[in-house]
Amino acid sequence: MKLCMIGTGYVGLVSGVCFADLGNDVICVDKNVNKIDLLKKGKVPIYEPGLSELVVKNYKNKRLTFSTDLKKSVKSSDIIFICVGTPTKKNGISADLSQIYNVAKEIKSSINSFKIIITKSTVPVTTGDEIEKILSKKNSKSKFSVVSNPEFLREGEAIRDFTYPDRIVVGSNDKRSNRVLKNLYGPLISKGAQYVYTSRRAAELIKYASNAFLATKITFINEIANLCEKIAVNIEDISIGMGLDKRIGSRFLRAGPGYGGSCFPKDTKAITSTGDKFKTNLSVIKSVIKSNKNRSKFLLNRVNEILNKKIKNKKITFLGVTFKANTDDMRDSSSLSMIPSLSKKGAIIKYYDPTGYKKEFSKVKNVSSANTIKESVEGSDLVIIHTEWNDFKSINFKSLIKGKKFIIYDMRNIYSPKKIRAQGFKYYSVGR
Ligand code: UGA
Repeated sequence: MKLCMIGTGYVGLVSGVCFADLGNDVICVDKNVNKIDLLKKGKVPIYEPGLSELVVKNYKNKRLTFSTDLKKSVKSSDIIFICVGTPTKKNGISADLSQIYNVAKEIKSSINSFKIIITKSTVPVTTGDEIEKILSKKNSKSKFSVVSNPEFLREGEAIRDFTYPDRIVVGSNDKRSNRVLKNLYGPLISKGAQYVYTSRRAAELIKYASNAFLATKITFINEIANLCEKIAVNIEDISIGMGLDKRIGSRFLRAGPGYGGSCFPKDTKAITSTGDKFKTNLSVIKSVIKSNKNRSKFLLNRVNEILNKKIKNKKITFLGVTFKANTDDMRDSSSLSMIPSLSKKGAIIKYYDPTGYKKEFSKVKNVSSANTIKESVEGSDLVIIHTEWNDFKSINFKSLIKGKKFIIYDMRNIYSPKKIRAQGFKYYSVGR
């Protein structure tokens, strides 16, 4: 099938490359000339394990092409995926849909044969209705179908998530596009993915409800972890004990520094805004947003206690600063509030991140980036394990640094408290 992916950000590039790998002809379009030039040279502008290899392979065999010519690309494709950003509006909580509607306006004159226009970006309920209105201004409704096919990829696991999805959600109000999409996703369905066919509005809401629910699950376990710390109970036991109930499930029950990234913070806000628009108070999600916002403060209080309220001139190391492992993404990472706040209190901070230096801290006083784990922890008073990279999972702290022992605050519960304490380190973690 001939596909066009509009937008070569996370969703557009990963799904475009993976569709090409499944044997389709895919054109990835972006306005950004630099990005397209880089991609043509096999250079991938985002950090995603395994992506670069697939780009090179499929570009070489000509199933994957890159272009800045939106109109031409749409004309030569049957299925158009809109994969542009839907960030939070400046000074608001709702999703900024200007990029989506601009694309719809730009492509409305390029519908030269029947086209399926799909939103893969996360878009609020009724966005598909608006796109349909825009396209109808130039085209009869028999010439196109607007479909919602949300993406459930996680950064760092995107290729695996695309190839082995739990479910594929397709929302459309006509049967023809359903048939085409079922066929497109055939190779994944035959490997066990559930295909869910529903109305367009339902598909749009499934995406937001899923992200909001996962954010709720994380926030819930983080609050239970707070309680565990007060009553000497291990949060891991609670996660295991709860997770074995199939109605609850064990995933996304890891306590930590709160959820971050480009999706959960933005989507939880956007869904409450949709609720408000339709006069429905999504109070659970609103309280999740509030609780997660306070999470960094809560962990910083703990840092203060661990250091006996003496943060000034203390050397603090952060192992990992991105919002989670296997990504270089800093968006809404808890380190963005923790590091400046500790710096303000007079701490001297070094961080090591496997994805390198972060410009976000360039203007924060007394913050520097180290090139190795060893360099980052040398002379440290407190080492904070902020991100759960594999690189941090088997550090032999005892042999790494001779002499002065630092305190370890493991915000991801990577290590066994017993083992680390047996090496003579003071060790703190989350909810245990
Ligand atoms: C999330 C969803 O998991 C994807 O299904 C969805 O497609 C994507 O958003 C999106 O809407 O595009 P992502 O933001 O890449 O994916 O990252 P997650 O792996 O979901 O992690 C989100 C945050 O929750 C991270 O800060 C992570 O550290 C935290 N988390 C996750 C926990 O604190 N505990 C957990 O048990 C799981």
